[in-house]
Amino acid sequence: MRDKIIKVILDSGEDFVSGEELSKQLGISRTAIWKHINILREEGYDIESVNKKGYRLISSPKDLLNPQNIYHNLRTEIIGKNIIHLECVDSTNDYLKKIGNDVQEGTVVISEEQTKGKGRLGRNWQSKSKEGIWMSIILKPEIIPYKAPFITLIAGAAIVKALNNLQVPAKVKWPNDIIINNKKVSGILTELSAEIERVNYVVVGIGMNVKNLDFDKELEEKATSLYKENYCISRVEIISQVLYEFEKLYKDYIENNYKEETLRICREYSAIINKDVYIIKGDEKELVKCIDISNEGNLIVRDGNNNVQEILSGEVSI
Ligand code: BTN
Repeated sequence: MRDKIIKVILDSGEDFVSGEELSKQLGISRTAIWKHINILREEGYDIESVNKKGYRLISSPKDLLNPQNIYHNLRTEIIGKNIIHLECVDSTNDYLKKIGNDVQEGTVVISEEQTKGKGRLGRNWQSKSKEGIWMSIILKPEIIPYKAPFITLIAGAAIVKALNNLQVPAKVKWPNDIIINNKKVSGILTELSAEIERVNYVVVGIGMNVKNLDFDKELEEKATSLYKENYCISRVEIISQVLYEFEKLYKDYIENNYKEETLRICREYSAIINKDVYIIKGDEKELVKCIDISNEGNLIVRDGNNNVQEILSGEVSI
């Protein structure tokens, strides 16, 4: 759709095209046109808009997720110091796993598009070109493998903190979903390469829907994007905030085994504590009340028989 808008505006040369004209030609509402125009501006198109005249293209973008832009904004010491920016890849997690032994800790792979974006539990992750943040971070912590799952919580805390820093009221749905208005905006897929007693590396994959205005039918009710919720924020800014928040929490954990700040964030911004939710395990689902997150990062719930249970992994449905 945005290509079509650009084409119409380009074809008009020096003349303005009204929102009404665009909406008629392209068969979408003026509000949708306005949102697409904002996305195009975010992508670097300089589009003039004048009341009662419409839109006119001043200049086209030179770059999108240019690593130089990200380095320029970054306030970290290791995470994101080496960025690999791709136009298209099957999955940034898979790409990073292939080169895992040869890259430095903190290397980040970002792709504009993924053709086989992976979600948890073997699901697909819709990753259309330039619509979101599809990135993976490689970590090489000297820890024993059972301590690795906490890194997913660190990533969740970092994302929710970063978004709230940017005035987006995001919440975290344990263990790895970030939601706005009860719809998923971001997810984390953590993969581990390890021997019995040592971790080779951990790949933390982060998917965030930023500019998506349309979702596949089966996702429409459950998924959203920042732009859909009217938060028009640059991907570069989000990435630098997420990496910054992630590094602080990750260093605390690896260097000092300090988990409290991650836990505090997960509790403060929890979408489910004190709520009744379903815990889904395979084909079964159980209605429980969420009470807390334990100091190990597990979910503490009260079941229908009034027993307190600690959930180590699984899926929660609100
Ligand atoms: C989930 O919520 O199910 C996890 C989604 C994780 C998606 C990201 S996008 C970047 C990275 N590469 C992938 O193939 N998956 C993760």
